[in-house]
Amino acid sequence: MPIRSSVYAACAVVVAALVVGAAAPVAAAPLDPADLGGSAVSGTVAPVAAAPPEATRPGGRSGAVGAPGVDDPFFPLAGNGGIDVQDYDLRLSYNPATDRLEGTATLRIVATQDLRRFDLDLRKFTLGTVTVDGVPAAITRDGQELQITPKRTLRKGAAFTVVVPYAGVPEPVVDPDGSSEGFVPTKDGAVVVNEPQGSPGWYPANDTPRDKATYTIAMTVPAGVTAVGNGALVSQTSAGGRTTFTWRERFPMAPYLTTITLGKFGVTTGRAGSIPTYVAVDPTQAAASAPVLRRLPEMVAFLQDLYGPYPFETVGAIVDNAPELGYALETQTKPVFDRAPDELTLLHELSHQWYGDAVTLRQWPDIWLHEGFATWSEWIWTERHGGQTAAQRFAELAQEPGNSYLWNPPPGDPGEAANLFAGSVYDRGAMTLQALREKIGDPAFFTVMRRWYAEHKYGNVSTPEFVALAQQVSQQDLGAFFKAWLYTPGKPAFLADDGAPVASARLAASEGGGRRR
Ligand code: TRP
Ligand code: ZN
Repeated sequence: MPIRSSVYAACAVVVAALVVGAAAPVAAAPLDPADLGGSAVSGTVAPVAAAPPEATRPGGRSGAVGAPGVDDPFFPLAGNGGIDVQDYDLRLSYNPATDRLEGTATLRIVATQDLRRFDLDLRKFTLGTVTVDGVPAAITRDGQELQITPKRTLRKGAAFTVVVPYAGVPEPVVDPDGSSEGFVPTKDGAVVVNEPQGSPGWYPANDTPRDKATYTIAMTVPAGVTAVGNGALVSQTSAGGRTTFTWRERFPMAPYLTTITLGKFGVTTGRAGSIPTYVAVDPTQAAASAPVLRRLPEMVAFLQDLYGPYPFETVGAIVDNAPELGYALETQTKPVFDRAPDELTLLHELSHQWYGDAVTLRQWPDIWLHEGFATWSEWIWTERHGGQTAAQRFAELAQEPGNSYLWNPPPGDPGEAANLFAGSVYDRGAMTLQALREKIGDPAFFTVMRRWYAEHKYGNVSTPEFVALAQQVSQQDLGAFFKAWLYTPGKPAFLADDGAPVASARLAASEGGGRRR
């Protein structure tokens, strides 16, 4: 598949920086979740590329216009310039019988530049009167851009509140790889997942992983339906044949990790160590998922030992019956499964709470920082539970022929959005970590993994920062190593081709992907 030249150019810069060891230094991040308030740790939006002179800028002398995107190479219109959302308060209702979603979104935002106008991302829906600090604002719409012109220009640094009343039948967002996301109807409700761009399919968002915020999601549904969101259940009240579930995630969360999956669920609450658990299971999946879900506390304990303290205050899972989805997602605090997960799928999504949810990419082409890490987590879980070691798994994969799914695209440079969840991003991404482990040894490797988490928890990261940390900890020049593993297409030449047969049952099964997670 053709690789966009802009991505090539970006990678050339990355590799050059690696070779001379000039990658950006790691900024220390706060370590204790208990000390964090939402706004203090909310991600700031990166500055947009050099602004044109004042006079030529849209908005001219009366103030700048926030950019419609934050220059993600895969999703240029996702996210918006000039704003930093602190908190979302979504008050919604949904009726599965009519498929109608309606409600009000209240966003507390800080202007990161003077703003005559700014955008949010929202697809479709009919709008009520949008206000900024209580005053009606002028609205225009352009595709997924909801353009908001407040009565007066907002000054850089100002905090303001936007209220967006909206209603309509949500349309699932179809991704470049053909999969559906957003608010996806099921037999008894809806499964709600947003990686990478589903959020604007059900609420107005600054839809970039760089702008983490706290969330309250209140959802009113017909009696008998359960709505499950991120974080803690603040209240559950019934009146007039309807129930309102109010969920609060007080830890920073990227928009793509939100959920309010709803339907008929059996709920089990408990504890994983000291962490409260909430597990919601579709009755059709109860029997098949019970033996796996029973191990959730053990998995959380395992991952904490390995990587550091669990980043959030609640944990759990949502097991739906949603064959229309076809994948699981690491929604924050409660991963969503489209069916009863197997052991490694549950472990995979839980490990994303560390790598993906707490430590989140800045740009989508760095997706291996999520999927390679979660896949390697499966390997180490298997190794530590008497199964195949990660080294054995690596050796097995290293036998894959040059034309295998495994080698292309290279995980650090997936090339285009349709390749975000390619098998190579997962498996060659995990091989990269295992190769690093074997190169620098377990003590250095686990120090890298733990520091990567501790130093970037609640923040955003890029591959050069990971390389810089690995070099710093190991005191080795790893530029050529990472260039070969992450950025060079095809099977690395240094993997000896001993001509051994590749057709083990396991490899055959993974050829072309098994089920993607
Ligand atoms: N992030 C998911 C995981 O690995 C995968 C995922 C999200 C996905 N959206 C997708 C896979 C669409 C296939 C298609 O846990
Ligand atoms: Zn994953």
